[in-house]
Amino acid sequence: MKEFTASFTYKVYDSPDELNKQDNELILRAISQLENAYAPYSNFQVGASARLANDEIFIGSNQENASYPLCMCGERVALYNAAANRPGIPVKKLAIVIRNPRMYIDKPVSPCGACRQVIAEYENLHKTPIKIFLKSDAPEVYEISSIKDLLPLGFDSSFL
Ligand code: THU
Repeated sequence: MKEFTASFTYKVYDSPDELNKQDNELILRAISQLENAYAPYSNFQVGASARLANDEIFIGSNQENASYPLCMCGERVALYNAAANRPGIPVKKLAIVIRNPRMYIDKPVSPCGACRQVIAEYENLHKTPIKIFLKSDAPEVYEISSIKDLLPLGFDSSFL
C-alpha cells in the first residue's frame, strides 16, 4: 500500500483593493451581477464574471426554477455565456461572489461539485488554468490558482 496526499495553497487578500486593477475590476463586475441573480427560492445570490484571454469579461448570476433541480449556478452561467459568445477563447480568470440578503456571510463560497467539473472542462479544453477569485460579504478575497486544486483526481476526457 502507498499513501498519497493532495494539498494545495491558496491566497487570501485582505480586500479587493489589494488586487491589481484588472482583478479588482473582475470582482466588481461579479458584485454588480448580484442584482441580476434570480434566487426567489434560496435567497442565495451568486454573481460571477469570467475574464477571457482577450480581456473581454462575460458575466453570469444564478438562475433558479420552481422545479428546484433546474437551478443553474452563477459561475456556470458566466462560463457558458463566455463559451457561447467566444468559443475558442480561453477563460483566464473567474470571480464568484455571494450574498444572502437575510444574513451576513463572512466566508467565500467555493464552487459546488458540478461547477468544479464544468470549470475543469474549460481548463482542459484550452489547456489554460483558470484563476478563481472568491468573495463573500467580508472584504477578504480568496485566490485559487486552478480548479485542479479543488478537484483532485478529477474525471476528464482522457478516460473516454
Ligand atoms: N449556487 C451557485 O450559483 N454557485 C455555487 O457555487 C453554489 C450554489 C446557487 C445555486 C442556487 O441558486 C443557490 O446558490 C443555492 O444553492
